[in-house]
Amino acid sequence: MTVSMASYFFMSINSLSFLLCLTMFAGKSSGATVPAMYVFGDSLLDSGNNNFLQTQTKSNYTPYGIDLPGEPTGRFTNGATGGDFIAQLLGLPHPPAYLSLSEASRKITTTGINYASGGSGILSETGTILGDILTLDEQINYFNSTVTNDLPTILSASLARSIFVISTGSNDYLNNYLQPQFSNSSQTYPPQEFANLLLDTFEQQLTIIYKLGGRKFVVYGLGALGCLPIVIASANPKLTTLCVEDVNNLINIYNNGLPSMLQRLASRLQGFIFVRADLFALGYAQFQDPVKFGYADGRTPCCDFGVSGMCIPGQNPCSDRDNRLFYDAIHPVQLVNFQFAGDCFFGNSRCTPINIKQLALKQS
Ligand SMILES: *[C@@H]1O[C@H](CO)[C@@H](O)[C@H](O)[C@H]1NC(C)=O
Ligand SMILES: *[C@@H]1O[C@H](CO)[C@@H](O)[C@H](O)[C@H]1NC(C)=O
Repeated sequence: MTVSMASYFFMSINSLSFLLCLTMFAGKSSGATVPAMYVFGDSLLDSGNNNFLQTQTKSNYTPYGIDLPGEPTGRFTNGATGGDFIAQLLGLPHPPAYLSLSEASRKITTTGINYASGGSGILSETGTILGDILTLDEQINYFNSTVTNDLPTILSASLARSIFVISTGSNDYLNNYLQPQFSNSSQTYPPQEFANLLLDTFEQQLTIIYKLGGRKFVVYGLGALGCLPIVIASANPKLTTLCVEDVNNLINIYNNGLPSMLQRLASRLQGFIFVRADLFALGYAQFQDPVKFGYADGRTPCCDFGVSGMCIPGQNPCSDRDNRLFYDAIHPVQLVNFQFAGDCFFGNSRCTPINIKQLALKQS
């Protein structure tokens, strides 16, 4: 799968081709013996779970997936997600969506599974106004079923060397705290208390994955949500700054608390190792000066979007997808996903305290 996708990109997207060669080279040469990659969280990583659920948060229609072969897969971008690219860099296939697997294939899928669900957050009530989604707790319950029912013998030997990638928390703000017409959380909790609630809940959820055997974690912080086109478009009164800085300040309370929460887990749980992916700093800088990062039209989403921020079905997207930061009014184009995954895998600025390659090579 990795090879055929890469050659497809090679023909269709020139600026990605060099990077994808690098990807395949890295997978083969990193020497990392990573048996599997497991994925949890939200629409940045969902690879099709929501296709199987009654929800408004779906992306299995054109123009989503236009740069992947075949039908739209349910990825919330034009091509692959950051999780897909990290898997490629590890030399693994793209982890399939859990809900797409039959009972029989669940028992033979040993290289990893994707449980992520668009619209979900850390809290169970987050995202449910949009219909049925897999909450993070439900995703972890399915992983528990994978470990205890589907693959008990294989996984007990390999989970400690596997990589766990998790992007969550954005929707606890976008679909919950910042939606007072649907949720009373902003009346119930001041900003710092809400961030603490999220961090405490997430700490318990990570502890459950650890108890089930996970050791090597890649945890995404929150991106620059105040710079999302959907947040900017709904700002009232109209902005005098490029981004909604009140929103950035609000979500950075969570981002600022994440390092110490992860550090606490590492000191409390024997063998827990993490990479923290700082999405905010890069996303913010790219939005302030897209041209500097090679995105000629970084502030206009590629597709025509509706009030939800999602692409309107059936419309043609822009043709200069490598010049945009955003595919719809919420989600980045795949080139952004690819570059971030590459930075986080090899680099030392976006991901700390170690990069993913170092995480993969660590003895546990
Ligand atoms: C907030 O809403 C929940 C359910 O929607 C309700 O159980 C709770 O009592 C409400 N809290 C406040 C302070 O209004
Ligand atoms: C996994 O699921 C079983 C069965 O529901 C439950 O008893 C167990 O506590 C779960 N494991 C963890 C670590 O939560």
